[in-house]
Amino acid sequence: MCGIIAYLGEDSAAPILLEGLKRLEYRGYDSAGILTVNDESQFELKKDVGKVLEIHEKLNFLDLNGTAGIAHTRWATHGGVTQANAHPHLSNNGRIAVIHNGIIENYKELRSKLTSQGFVFSSETDTEVVPNLIEYWMRIKGLDLVEAVLNTFQSLEGNFAIVLIDRDSKTIIGAKNGSPLVLGVGSNGKNEYFLASDIPAFLDRTKDVVYLYDGDMVVLRCDSHSRSKKSSSYQIYNFRDGRKIVTRPVQSVSWDMEHAAKGEFDHFMLKEITEQVETIQKAGAQDRETIEDIARRIKEAKGVFLIGCGSSFHACLSVSYLFSKLAAFHINTVLASEFSAYEHFLKKDTLVIAVSQSGETIDILDAVRTAKQKGCQVISIVNVMGSSLTQMSDKTLFLNVGPEISVLSTKTYTAQLVVLTLLAYALAGNLDEGLQRVKYLWNIVYNLTAASTRARIRALADRLSKSEHIFVIGRGSLYATALEAALKIKEVSYIHAEAFAGGELKHGPISLIGKDTPCIVFVSKDTEKLILSNAMEVKSRGGYLIGIGPTPIESFDFFIKVPETGELNPVCDIIPIQILAYQLAVILGHDPDRPRNLAKSVTVR
Ligand code: G6P
Repeated sequence: MCGIIAYLGEDSAAPILLEGLKRLEYRGYDSAGILTVNDESQFELKKDVGKVLEIHEKLNFLDLNGTAGIAHTRWATHGGVTQANAHPHLSNNGRIAVIHNGIIENYKELRSKLTSQGFVFSSETDTEVVPNLIEYWMRIKGLDLVEAVLNTFQSLEGNFAIVLIDRDSKTIIGAKNGSPLVLGVGSNGKNEYFLASDIPAFLDRTKDVVYLYDGDMVVLRCDSHSRSKKSSSYQIYNFRDGRKIVTRPVQSVSWDMEHAAKGEFDHFMLKEITEQVETIQKAGAQDRETIEDIARRIKEAKGVFLIGCGSSFHACLSVSYLFSKLAAFHINTVLASEFSAYEHFLKKDTLVIAVSQSGETIDILDAVRTAKQKGCQVISIVNVMGSSLTQMSDKTLFLNVGPEISVLSTKTYTAQLVVLTLLAYALAGNLDEGLQRVKYLWNIVYNLTAASTRARIRALADRLSKSEHIFVIGRGSLYATALEAALKIKEVSYIHAEAFAGGELKHGPISLIGKDTPCIVFVSKDTEKLILSNAMEVKSRGGYLIGIGPTPIESFDFFIKVPETGELNPVCDIIPIQILAYQLAVILGHDPDRPRNLAKSVTVR
């Protein structure tokens, strides 16, 4: 939630910050703002409600002068969507400007302390206490900037990533505590630095990054960044660990700008759906020893939990059927936000497998923190390198699919399924078969994402775009696919979509079926008999049946052929529905990459 980017260098900051904001907009799009420090050491600020480009058209961010600045795109938590609540926020004396992602839980208490010292507040946000606390420590208590900021960060409770800029010295300081923040270091000795919520924000300028840890505070100084290329140009302190100066390695990321740009596609969502031809293979190219080692740990553990949120949870649920079927192994699949209810089952030899695209979802970080406190081993399956979850895990398997920009999980969902399926095969002592089967998907996914298939699905979307409700059914692991399909449809088309296990229809939901009610039916060889009889229950009440599976049956009103791939059916079967959800959004005039009220990475509880 909320995207942050800061720049300190030799080039004009505004175009770099604007470009970065566009790439971070998936993190929130209620309001946005850019602030720079010009050559006269004055702040120049523009912020407003709306999406980045709308604001830019109205205010022209490119008018802002200076080679240092900070920028923010907001997903509102504390305080409504107003210009006053948009970031950056300034201290009372106008010297410190702050942008923030996350929540400061003790802001009310801090705000009333500052009010009693004569500070006034012009927004309803929790953020505004930060610049004013820094001012308090500097102006009233006489501390220098770094000491004042360290004191401030140490007094904040909650999860946050904060970046601030000091007008007088052009110093930029960023801190990470439970929310993402990465440092970008100018490549080829270029004197420029970036702080951002996510790497794609500055990927066109550098691939050299420093992953920050919780409690890290980076100080980017203007005087040290310019002249000597050899001089250390930034310093990292850890405000949770005795304010010690720490060193973190500079690492080069393998992601390309091509991944972070739309290319020939109208939207990231469609681009990312079609990328699955390659990303499914990349996810499958895991290190054999690591997979087998994790399978061994699963076998030896006394109790295994598989946890995730949203689509990641659906991937967990889907594969829990495979652990049972392939390896006769029971896995507890739990929503990360509900995990605390199971705390008393956690022992030292319990293994928790945490699945998350971003590695920053607060619910999963909370769950993993609990597991670590109980001494459990934590394995994570993550897309974003250096994310908080990877830092908390004993071992991480990466999805290797490049950045996913659209808010909806598509390529990362299928990648999670692939990695988890390989684990199930490894647990069954049959990793080679799993690897072989993943390779075989290439051709199928190519056909499923081809323009001709998309055109056929577009015809279905035209019909369904007039529906008020869409139901989805499946059995076994395809029940999890049904849940994911309903989520994809509703989150981007805003049409009510709901999934049921086929056998549950008769226990209530069937009363919702009337003439022409659309019902999507996922069919596989092993569930065919039963799911088709559920489909007939819908048909006989006038429902409109959309079949997805290997063989058409007469009762289907619309059929999308997806070849039978056994254990990998969930990977292929979701793809037509990802396309359908995308087409519905386009037909209904919604932005597929930025659905209303949603954010890609949810860092609030
Ligand atoms: C948000 C996103 C979902 C995602 C979920 C979990 O709600 O909109 O698409 O599935 O978070 O995210 P994670 O990064 O933990 O997989």
